[in-house]
Amino acid sequence: MITGASSGIGKGIALEIASRGAHLGLLARREELLNEIVGEATAHNVKAVAAAADVRDIEAVRAAADRFRKELGPIDVMIANAGIGTSDHATRLTPEHAANVIGINVLGAVNSVGAVLPEMVERGQGRLVAISSLAAYRGLAKSAAYCASKAAVTAYFESLRIDLRQTGVGVTIIHPGFIKTDLTSGRESKMPYLMELEAGVKKIVAGIEKEKAIYAFPWQLATIVRASMLMPPAMYDWIAARNSFRE
Ligand SMILES: NC(=O)c1ccc[n+]([C@@H]2O[C@H](COP(=O)([O-])OP(=O)(O)OC[C@H]3O[C@@H](n4cnc5c(N)ncnc54)[C@H](OP(=O)(O)O)[C@@H]3O)[C@@H](O)[C@H]2O)c1
Repeated sequence: MITGASSGIGKGIALEIASRGAHLGLLARREELLNEIVGEATAHNVKAVAAAADVRDIEAVRAAADRFRKELGPIDVMIANAGIGTSDHATRLTPEHAANVIGINVLGAVNSVGAVLPEMVERGQGRLVAISSLAAYRGLAKSAAYCASKAAVTAYFESLRIDLRQTGVGVTIIHPGFIKTDLTSGRESKMPYLMELEAGVKKIVAGIEKEKAIYAFPWQLATIVRASMLMPPAMYDWIAARNSFRE
């Protein structure tokens, strides 16, 4: 089951794992795009089901997961990928806009977990995957809602990983750097180590297959971001203000 499967990283993961023989439960709002991906995936002789749903709507997400189970069998892996970006400066960021980002990126992932976890625990197997971001580690310019949402997703899944240790259900948190998708389009010059979609998707799928607890890439940017966590606030703010990747 992949949320946010209609474009970008979610679509890329869907087609990559279909080519390896995985059946797909695809969830997003744009049904016509999902149906096109179902067509492409089934060319690999796998089954694929599209369910149009908004991840903010818990009943719709539950209904989609029920349909996937009914038509495809038990859900082995749930990838909580649906997400939106934001580039508002603090002085223009409204509470409504921030709530929408947090609603989709955080509560959407929480709803997706809720729709699959009871059955995974009952079966004693399964994997929950969060597509978080390197933006989860520290605040960034013009990214308050986005960074807050990704930090929350990471902390949520990390806590789940601890609780689920003895259940047979694993948790993988992916922290990608910049990948070329609709979410990053138009800002290429400001994004260090920007990756092609195919390369990014292959790294994400490898991280899931290796059942990594946390996987951050590309290593160059992941190292810089992790090192920045040791910087005192004044030094970090000076550097972060001069390296905005938002317009
Ligand atoms: N691209 C990057 O550089 C990058 C880096 C780090 C992390 N990420 C994360 O990767 C994930 C995918 O992003 P992307 O770059 O692939 O962007 P994208 O191409 O814009 O894809 C976003 C996906 O999320 C879905 N979505 C958005 N709101 C939704 C909602 N309310 N309910 C259900 N689905 C919803 C969209 O489908 P519909 O519009 O059809 O609903 C779409 O399939 C996001 O969580 C993003 O934060 C991306």
